[in-house]
Amino acid sequence: MAFSKLFAVLSIVVAISAASMVLHERHTAIPSGFALRRSAPDDEMITLRVGLKSNNVAGLEAKLRSVSNPGSPDFRKWLSMDEVKAFTQPSADTVSAFDAFASANGLVPTVISPSRDWVSITLPVSKANKLFATEFAIYTHPDLKRAITRTLTVSLPSELVGHVDVIHPTTAFVTPNIRLVSPGRQINAHGPAASCNSSDPSSVVTPACLQELYGIPTTPATQTSNALLVTGYFDQWAQSADLAQFLKLVRPDIPSATTFTLLSTANGTNPQSPDNASLEANVDIQYSVGIATGVPVQFLSVGGGLTLDDFPALLLETTTFLDGVANPPTVMTTSYGFAESFFGLSVATKICNAYMALGARGISVVFDSGDGGVRGNHDDPDMCTNNTFMPVFPASCPWVSSVGSTQGFAPEKALNLTGGGFSNFFPAPYYQTAAVDKFLDTIPGDFAGMFNKSGRGHPDISTQGWNFEMVNAGKVLFVAIGGTSVSAPTFASIIALINDRLLAENKPVLGFLNPFLYSKASSAFTDVITGHNSGLLCPASSAAFDAAVGWDPLTGLGTPIFPDLLAAALA
Ligand SMILES: *[C@@H]1O[C@H](CO)[C@@H](O)[C@H](O)[C@H]1NC(C)=O
Ligand SMILES: *[C@@H]1O[C@H](CO)[C@@H](O)[C@H](O)[C@H]1NC(C)=O
Ligand SMILES: *[C@@H]1O[C@H](CO)[C@@H](O)[C@H](O)[C@H]1NC(C)=O
Ligand SMILES: *[C@@H]1O[C@H](CO)[C@@H](O)[C@H](O)[C@H]1NC(C)=O
Ligand SMILES: *[C@@H]1O[C@H](CO)[C@@H](O)[C@H](O)[C@H]1NC(C)=O
Ligand SMILES: *[C@@H]1O[C@H](CO)[C@@H](O)[C@H](O)[C@H]1NC(C)=O
Repeated sequence: MAFSKLFAVLSIVVAISAASMVLHERHTAIPSGFALRRSAPDDEMITLRVGLKSNNVAGLEAKLRSVSNPGSPDFRKWLSMDEVKAFTQPSADTVSAFDAFASANGLVPTVISPSRDWVSITLPVSKANKLFATEFAIYTHPDLKRAITRTLTVSLPSELVGHVDVIHPTTAFVTPNIRLVSPGRQINAHGPAASCNSSDPSSVVTPACLQELYGIPTTPATQTSNALLVTGYFDQWAQSADLAQFLKLVRPDIPSATTFTLLSTANGTNPQSPDNASLEANVDIQYSVGIATGVPVQFLSVGGGLTLDDFPALLLETTTFLDGVANPPTVMTTSYGFAESFFGLSVATKICNAYMALGARGISVVFDSGDGGVRGNHDDPDMCTNNTFMPVFPASCPWVSSVGSTQGFAPEKALNLTGGGFSNFFPAPYYQTAAVDKFLDTIPGDFAGMFNKSGRGHPDISTQGWNFEMVNAGKVLFVAIGGTSVSAPTFASIIALINDRLLAENKPVLGFLNPFLYSKASSAFTDVITGHNSGLLCPASSAAFDAAVGWDPLTGLGTPIFPDLLAAALA
């Protein structure tokens, strides 16, 4: 009798706590490519980042709209660190709701962001499973060095609904996915002159080629308060010796000792040896220092220790770092991305909002648009017949400027691998709806259902992205390399040079770019009207978008014309 009474009481408790859980996010199946190994051991300790709801995201968005909109009386009156924080910090109610939950459950939260909108908690898996109705398990993926602990479903106790935006890592399944494309051909070193020649089949892209093609000045920038930040992830390190060799070869007009400043977060390092060289970090640094002549360039090495492979966590480490820097760079460029669906809506939204905050402070946030054409940076031959197009994140975030790739010179056409499409998470923002609607009118009716017509279209702009000359791992190894990874630093360098001119005239920097790009600056781009983004590996006959007159999801508004962009910026 006593036993069954106790049993009844227990069932009621379980029923009550089950009823008070609200489903937050779930996958209906294991994300493709990942394999379930086993349940996570009950006593394994897991550290979860809890993203607390910011008190006024809508207010920040409205403020950003007014400071980034040409014609607004507040145009380019970028916010200070504290002004942004007033929007992004959680409300007192949110903090007390989470603190009450934590203390009731014996959790000790640690604040891990300057706005206090992120805290971390460390707890046994069994407890996490109970508190958040998760089923943590061990998953592997061929691209991951280590197994990861994730869950297909996460819920929130009702008292946290409206206070907690995201718990990470839970349902985000993302791999490092470094897709920089090397055509695998070593080339004879080309100096600055022999480049950008469409009638020469062996021609390669160099800084001189880009300078000539886009009208980029070669004279050094003068403003020391300016900085261009290049982010580095996944132990991809930028080598000073490779940079010096590159500059000697292709920029003999500037000192080959011109270098970058190392910044570090999450224990990031930057060891210097040919064995530590990586194509991605090297090409990003070489085309930043090589094009943004005289602009101070910073390399932010984002470490991560055991979370080295956790891309969402690394993106958050980056924004958290910048949120605490009083004099941030004016431009940040990142050449990494992954299919949006693998992040999941809640963590992607929180990361995207962090870019909104950086934009409001006057930082131009630049991302490459992915190297998988319409197939989500994921250009796998198995996927060529799958006509559900996959957008790429963070390129799909409306608060970043995403950069696609072109090839050829007269005229430029869209490179087949250029990532582009329409977000399933973020609606088309106000600044691009007219441009995107015009493109949607060109799409054949049988495309319905392949992509989300109401989503944020990306990329926003493009530059050359194929056959870039670079130096890697010392020696005389010159490789020609391609992908939107090289386009992002090229475009970011152009923006950094324009910021130099603005600062020289005591004018505010460009900051969040897109409203300006789609309005006053839209004629400062050469429209790219041919190309099909079926991918590097999928046959050209596979379904994809076609470049068109005006904005398109391969090359955006087109490729930059520096003098026109500068004139629009100064006007
Ligand atoms: C371009 O390449 C063609 C073919 O190799 C060559 O004849 C021509 O001189 C080159 N033009 C320039 C400006 O280097
Ligand atoms: C960097 O290269 C050095 C020299 O080969 C090597 O000893 C070291 O292990 C490398 N560092 C890392 C972290 O890979
Ligand atoms: C950085 O290193 C410290 C000391 O080893 C460690 O406690 C911390 O967890 C590390 N941080 C990250 C993000 O790996
Ligand atoms: C096609 O790709 C989408 C997006 O990854 C996926 O959800 C869907 O299951 C795939 N369809 C087939 C038939 O493989
Ligand atoms: C399409 O995008 C909108 C946001 O613009 C989103 O609310 C909706 O869920 C998306 N549809 C699908 C099927 O993903
Ligand atoms: C995609 O374009 C690159 C560069 O022009 C080319 O090497 C590759 O063969 C193309 N891929 C396909 C499938 O046509």
